[in-house]
Amino acid sequence: MSVSNLQIRKDGRLRHFLSTEGLNRGLLTEILDTAESFAGVTEQSVKKVPLLRGKTIVNLFFEASTRTRTTFELAAKRLSADVLNINIGASATVKGETLLDTLRNLQAMHVDMFVVRHADSGTAHFIARHVLPHVSVINAGDGRHAHPTQAMLDMFTIRREKGADFGRLSVAIVGDIANSRVARSQIHALNLLNTGDVRIIAPRTLIPSHIESLGVRVFHDLREGLRDADVVIMLRLQRERMKGTVIPSEHEYYQLYGLTEEKLSMARPDITVMHPGPINRGVEMDSQVADGPRSVILQQVTYGIAVRMAVMSMAMQQKHSQDGDA
Ligand code: NCD
Repeated sequence: MSVSNLQIRKDGRLRHFLSTEGLNRGLLTEILDTAESFAGVTEQSVKKVPLLRGKTIVNLFFEASTRTRTTFELAAKRLSADVLNINIGASATVKGETLLDTLRNLQAMHVDMFVVRHADSGTAHFIARHVLPHVSVINAGDGRHAHPTQAMLDMFTIRREKGADFGRLSVAIVGDIANSRVARSQIHALNLLNTGDVRIIAPRTLIPSHIESLGVRVFHDLREGLRDADVVIMLRLQRERMKGTVIPSEHEYYQLYGLTEEKLSMARPDITVMHPGPINRGVEMDSQVADGPRSVILQQVTYGIAVRMAVMSMAMQQKHSQDGDA
């Protein structure tokens, strides 16, 4: 079964959320619109809606995470679901239990949704292929492959900052594209939303081959690539995924690709500066920029809750009317 069929129900609604690739503009817009209504809920003093009352959601994290796991947990709680956090690195797999046995045991406890993070690309898809028909799977990051809720919270941030017409925007993604699941999910989402100009800025060693086939423009010079950009998304150097030496030194990388006020002056004066976190200050960006007036890095974290609420409620809502529709 293809990726898109696995994610989308026969009637076109969301079943799992595994990657932005293979989705369509209508579904992405529905996620953004639904998140917009939840953003209001999270700003109230009583931050809860009863949409997922009685549902059980398991955060199944095989890889360390702070903000992603926490915002998924808060999103589930604000939807009134019961949520369980399982750090598998510290439990079952070290005892030799297979992934499928772990899943079967959790399903025996009547779980309704798995939120999965794993160091291996394809894990969320694998799990989605094996869950019971009523269970939904959300990918919270798999290897270098995809991190679709991060991409959608980034699209939500861009829409809030720049308006809904992506067609007139120039968006630059800077840094370790080769090792980034975030970049891949962002590029597919930006393309589906018909973004006018998507740019990749990075040294040759951090750009995957054939990236141009995704319809992006490639730059190796940060100043040149930032010219007249509306939005810049900085990425962390994913050292844990690098094989061998692909960058000379962090100092040299910062000289060439670190975002400073001076380099930012090449872009539009109202440029929006983003980063999925965690930031390496003084490596991919200067503190002055990270904490400056054009940075929306903390808003991204806040919006992450509303976007995750949207994705979870959309995938679960269909469950009521679509039980048995695998
Ligand atoms: C990203 C991730 O884990 O892929 N971070 C995140 O979800 N907040 C990016 C990164 O680790 O650099």
